[in-house]
Amino acid sequence: MRPPPSLLSLLLPLLLLLGGRAAAAALADSRAQLPAPRNPKVHLYNAEQVLSWEPGSLSNDTRPVVYQVQFKYPSDSRWYDTRDIGVDCMNVTTTECNFTPTSLSNGFPPHFNVSLRVRAKLEDLVSPWLSVPWFLYYWNVTVGPPENVWVTPGEGSLIIRFSSPFDIPASLATFVYYVHYWEKAGIQKVKGPFRSNSIVLNDLKPLREYCLQVKAHLVWTYYNNISRPGHLSNISCYETTMDATTKLQQVIIIAVGIFLLLSALAGACFFLVLKYKGLIKYWFHSPPSIPSQIEEYLKDPSQPILEALDKDTSPTDDAWDSVSIVSFPDKEQEDVPQSTLTQDSGPVCQPVGQEL
Ligand SMILES: *[C@@H]1O[C@H](CO)[C@@H](O)[C@H](O)[C@H]1NC(C)=O
Ligand SMILES: *[C@@H]1O[C@H](CO)[C@@H](O)[C@H](O)[C@H]1NC(C)=O
Ligand SMILES: *[C@@H]1O[C@H](CO)[C@@H](O)[C@H](O)[C@H]1NC(C)=O
Ligand SMILES: *[C@@H]1O[C@H](CO)[C@@H](O)[C@H](O)[C@H]1NC(C)=O
Ligand SMILES: *[C@@H]1O[C@H](CO)[C@@H](O)[C@H](O)[C@H]1NC(C)=O
Ligand SMILES: *[C@@H]1O[C@H](CO)[C@@H](O)[C@H](O)[C@H]1NC(C)=O
Repeated sequence: MRPPPSLLSLLLPLLLLLGGRAAAAALADSRAQLPAPRNPKVHLYNAEQVLSWEPGSLSNDTRPVVYQVQFKYPSDSRWYDTRDIGVDCMNVTTTECNFTPTSLSNGFPPHFNVSLRVRAKLEDLVSPWLSVPWFLYYWNVTVGPPENVWVTPGEGSLIIRFSSPFDIPASLATFVYYVHYWEKAGIQKVKGPFRSNSIVLNDLKPLREYCLQVKAHLVWTYYNNISRPGHLSNISCYETTMDATTKLQQVIIIAVGIFLLLSALAGACFFLVLKYKGLIKYWFHSPPSIPSQIEEYLKDPSQPILEALDKDTSPTDDAWDSVSIVSFPDKEQEDVPQSTLTQDSGPVCQPVGQEL
């Protein structure tokens, strides 16, 4: 009988395996001492395509850490350096890599499914790769509001012009636009989709204030017309002008109003003339100066005397004459002049009293 295999011989392969693993782990540890970046974010707003991340846990090392970014399309099995699309993110000191199309780079094709990864590097040290969620620009982009919204108020209408949020290749995708509009304190309505950058709202009431917002949808025509709704533009309000028919209506209403008013006035005048015929005749046909004098003359009994006095001042003169006449015979006869004085005193006093 052969001796049973020793325990050691049985355990040796296992030990070797474990030892090798440990050695491999130790080797990996020594090469990947740098912490990987964290929190990757892909910012896709209008034409902007920016990958950003946060540094790994802080180390006491004062040597500068750089980052490396790579990309991959699902159709390929290997990762590519970003310089292949004209963006240098091989050794960047910042925590972002900008793929926004420029004169030097076209960025990623907007209809490509893109996967990215990033790692930190410190001299001969490298961190593990941090993989970024895949994105497809036309699927994931945030579409901003249309720009330079320009509104011209018209006759019961508003003409809206604007520019697209950003430029897109017409062969792959297009923008369609929607207008949200409402009368002040009214219900919001939506019109669209429009393909043109100029929209006319023409079923509005004249001389009313309307507020509106415009929004673009990115339609990926190349791929089942998938639509990506955009953000609304800022609210702006405009007053519609008067249209031709309203203007005519207003002119007619004013004309009829004036006519009715004049007719009413004329009617009222006619009525008054009929009712106060006598009075009007009196006002218009009898001169006021002569009849009043006659009336006073007839009414007041004292008037004749007064009138007589006013008209003919000779009685007072006579009285004074008589007095002066009386003064002459004063020296010889006192009885006679006395009687004449009393006789004349009445007419004398009266004019004096009247004068006061
Ligand atoms: C960093 O330095 C502080 C002292 O300044 C020390 O307490 C800490 O352990 C160091 N951390 C590392 C990761 O070396
Ligand atoms: C990036 O840095 C590494 C060293 O970490 C160096 O070998 C390589 O040449 C650098 N590449 C570029 C493009 O600067
Ligand atoms: C993009 O690629 C990833 C794998 O890399 C896959 O899971 C995903 O479904 C793809 N997206 C589209 C829209 O094809
Ligand atoms: C892009 O959209 C897809 C599906 O909506 C999502 O799974 C993916 O995480 C998005 N990518 C990014 C970078 O946000
Ligand atoms: C996309 O929409 C346009 C117009 O609405 C239509 O002519 C075209 O056939 C559509 N394409 C697909 C793939 O649905
Ligand atoms: C829209 O309004 C916000 C704040 O109210 C302002 O910051 C922004 O510049 C406005 N946009 C335009 C295009 O006027």
